[in-house]
Amino acid sequence: MKILPSPPLLPPLLKIAPSILSADFGKLNEEIASIEKFSDWLHIDVMDNHFVSNLTIGAPVLRNLKTKLFRDAHLMVDNPENLLADFAKAGADAITIHAEIEGNIGEMLEKIRSLGCQAGISIKPETPVSAIEKFLSKVDLVLVMSVEPGFGGQEFLESALPKIRELRKKNPELDISVDGGVNAETAKLAREAGANILVAGNYIFKAESREGAIEKLRG
Ligand code: DX5
Ligand code: ZN
Repeated sequence: MKILPSPPLLPPLLKIAPSILSADFGKLNEEIASIEKFSDWLHIDVMDNHFVSNLTIGAPVLRNLKTKLFRDAHLMVDNPENLLADFAKAGADAITIHAEIEGNIGEMLEKIRSLGCQAGISIKPETPVSAIEKFLSKVDLVLVMSVEPGFGGQEFLESALPKIRELRKKNPELDISVDGGVNAETAKLAREAGANILVAGNYIFKAESREGAIEKLRG
């Protein structure tokens, strides 16, 4: 019998994830409707004024978001274990926690999957890839921060690129997300380095044409 060669590993599809942090929080569902048709994921930044110096939204707001997009919850909080079930119940499709928090991260990632969500781990600009290697078998996505987490509208830190390259080289099929300062130029750099999920807040929501901005991110 002829043995067929195994198919080449394909990098995962490019996905654009608008970050609602840059949207008008007074009319979130209208804001989402304006990008829904052109986007793949919806990125929801959750901040606790402790892990980062800013405060945003919790599960009750997520529960009331009207969207068919994949809901990608980025938890920039300490003690996320207390929130995982609420976020899963509120409709999160993926829940990402940070590598820099205290506690049993492996258990938290397992819990996220057991709740039926994709599990993600994120690294801040100062955190090396080596810090999350032991968790890679427990995650569906890695989120590489290209700004200090906490605020939208900051400048992209190119130090994220070698980390994306390193992750992609060792994990051809992993979803690798980049978050912070993503615009048409930095999106190109991130795509070339191997990122396939591009999170963008200001570049999309402050654009004259949100559709046009999203198309530019696709390259
Ligand atoms: C920052 C957040 C980002 C933020 C990105 O801590 O995690 O998702 O919304 O915003 P821009 O694209 O404006 O840098
Ligand atoms: Zn984010």
